[in-house]
Amino acid sequence: MDKFRITGGRSLKGSVSISGAKNSALPCMAAALLTPETVTLHNIPYVRDIITQRRLLEDLGATVLTPELRTHKINARNIELFEAPYELVKTMRASVLALGPLLARFGKAKVSLPGGCAIGTRPIDLHLAAFEKLGAEVRLEAGNVVARSPASGRLVGAEIHFDKVTVTGTENLMMAAALARGRTILHGAACEPEITDLAELLNKMGARISGAGTATIEIEGVEALGGGEHTIIPDRIETGTFMAAAAITRGELEIMDCQPKHLTCVIEQLSDVGVEIDEINSSKLHVRATKSLTAKDVTTEPYPRFPTDMQAQYMALMTQARGRSIIVETIFENRFMHGSELQRMGARIQIDGHKAILEGPTPLTGAPLLASDLRASASLVLAGLVAEGETVVDRVYHIDRGYEKIEAKLRAVGADIERIRESVTAPLSRTSVKDVAEVV
Ligand code: EPU
Repeated sequence: MDKFRITGGRSLKGSVSISGAKNSALPCMAAALLTPETVTLHNIPYVRDIITQRRLLEDLGATVLTPELRTHKINARNIELFEAPYELVKTMRASVLALGPLLARFGKAKVSLPGGCAIGTRPIDLHLAAFEKLGAEVRLEAGNVVARSPASGRLVGAEIHFDKVTVTGTENLMMAAALARGRTILHGAACEPEITDLAELLNKMGARISGAGTATIEIEGVEALGGGEHTIIPDRIETGTFMAAAAITRGELEIMDCQPKHLTCVIEQLSDVGVEIDEINSSKLHVRATKSLTAKDVTTEPYPRFPTDMQAQYMALMTQARGRSIIVETIFENRFMHGSELQRMGARIQIDGHKAILEGPTPLTGAPLLASDLRASASLVLAGLVAEGETVVDRVYHIDRGYEKIEAKLRAVGADIERIRESVTAPLSRTSVKDVAEVV
């Protein structure tokens, strides 16, 4: 397993370019299952979860061509399998995004039920109840969700009320309802920019979706969808992570190819803490931290409020801010694993259920650390950048799932970080050329 070795203490300076949003690319790739025509997606990030999603599509029978590294041309004319096996779902929960499109287009789908993961139990009961509202028959069989469309054939539009905001649930339902007979209204829908991005792609494919980006989405089902071409939005969480990197190292970064309008709450929060942030234009931010930082409380909430996917990085930052801060996590029940690793570096953090109470600033010292999930890993890397001495972050496969070459991007702006490779140990004769291309 690869590790990062980081020697802290350097201020970051320079410019960094943001990749496409993983959490938008994943549903957009799944949407290609809705049509026999080709869907072309640009600005796909080169991260592990995308490789997993591509494998899933190919296993189902789709062809995926990559004429350029970040462009995928997906054709799902000849789908032969209608199931996402446990082997894939256990490595990536977003595989459940295959359910909606397979069910809507082929009337059947079988997806292994994802278990809990490092950040919480994460059930998909809301997806399943909503599919039933569209007339699907949903059963649990030997750890799999087996869904079938009604005997009459197509799914049927319905009014759906989500009791809780669910991002992939909203996406799954938007995709399923796009091919249902009649109108579907999603109440309590997620408003994340990734939802709007998916709706935009689906509309380009011929869907009739309005209201995406608000809590009420209306979908007028159509009989068939065609191909489409779409550019994935920039990754707002990668953007926020680099903002935090500039702030924690008292550095100065120009963040290019981002969309500041998707980060209003993060920008406000970091500005309150004392980070100087200028929106240079609609795709560029200038972030500088010269003053000392002041601790501020934060609560994670669905978009447009402060994202849970930035909570761990914000916690690392608060270890360097003056005063007490309380971080409340309301989305996932177990998303403070990074807290105990930060404590091992010297941070003063008390975890009390959904609440973390920090006292800062505390000098951090380098230590061997264990990454527990994607955003936790990012938080540990940030802490390593400011810690005295050497930090080794183990299990960086978590970070590779969602950050494109984070160590290269950080090194280019002055960080002392290197990857200790332990994964490319298989003899070449047993590794296909494709696999080698994927692990680099
Ligand atoms: N929930 C249910 N039942 C459901 C669905 C969700 O109880 O049927 C609960 C979850 O357990 C959680 C809350 O509702 O407590 C929100 O979950 P949601 O469904 O919104 O999360 P998700 O769709 O599984 C996506 C992102 C996550 C991000 C969350 C919240 C993707 C592929 N994943 O997950 O991203 O944290 O929304 O914004 O879009 C990450 O990128 O690191 C990541 C974890």
